[in-house]
Amino acid sequence: MGRKVILDSDTASDDTIAILLSSRLFDLLGVTIVAGNVDYDSQVKNCLFSLEYFGCSDVPVFLGSKRPIMGQWRTVPEVHGKNGLGDWDYPEPKKIPEKEDAVDAILRLSREYDGELEVLAISPLTNLALAYLKDPSIATRVKKVWIMGGAFSRGNTTPFAEFNFWVDPEAAKIVLDAGFDVTIVPWEVTEEYGVIDTETWKKIETMGTKLSEFFVRANRTLRDFSISQGNPGSVHPDSLTVYLAYDNSSVIESRRLRVDIETCSKTRGGMIVDWYSKENANAEVVLKADGKKFRDALLSILSSF
Ligand code: RIB
Ligand code: CA
Repeated sequence: MGRKVILDSDTASDDTIAILLSSRLFDLLGVTIVAGNVDYDSQVKNCLFSLEYFGCSDVPVFLGSKRPIMGQWRTVPEVHGKNGLGDWDYPEPKKIPEKEDAVDAILRLSREYDGELEVLAISPLTNLALAYLKDPSIATRVKKVWIMGGAFSRGNTTPFAEFNFWVDPEAAKIVLDAGFDVTIVPWEVTEEYGVIDTETWKKIETMGTKLSEFFVRANRTLRDFSISQGNPGSVHPDSLTVYLAYDNSSVIESRRLRVDIETCSKTRGGMIVDWYSKENANAEVVLKADGKKFRDALLSILSSF
């Protein structure tokens, strides 16, 4: 059996591809849902449908926080489509969420897989922060937290802040100060190494598999938005983060640094990196990655059925 993971998601566009990759590369114990990209109920439905479509109906979905800790954020349908899946009018999923709350599920699984559980955090960090506040000892049981979040200088939501950290900066600060073993994949790294360019889109559009069709239908709004922002194709921050978590050899450069989060003023949600002090370093920050390995792995999985 593979490495045991939970994936925490605000399920839209690329989150679904991250779910696909995590279901094929890890032992996916569950998906926890958190407020973020689009309206909460659409995120839940996107996740349930995606798991069914991928042949993963047995993977449980747990409902988590419907708002960030301070409750101030907005959704981004302009990036993902109103329903979060490129406005694909897909059939109603039969699968339903579990009765157990996401925070309780995270704590339970951290006990059941003490020292083994990894968290793929590809969304605002509200659920993991609430789990820590409920039981701080979780930080000693979770083996690793892989975070897609933060921007050095090219905020994608404000000029200072990447979306996941902007939606819930208090949660990001709580998680980064909790003592977890953390690796962060920042926004700029995903723009550089996590793009599916138009050439690769053409390969996927002509692949003729169920999964390639899913990729195209779920990510077309994301592709158009990414290109409108000056990228050569769709940017896939969540699936790159999942792939780097799986294949650490695809992390070409990273540094252990002190990372803090701005929680007030105009720079709220900003990631503050101390590049010089070795004092109190709290995260491994990915700086360079092997984008070709990521794309090759994605194409291989999309061609599989
Ligand atoms: O900034 C990109 C991140 O915010 C991605 O995880 C996307 O899904 C949104 O959650
Ligand atoms: Ca996400």
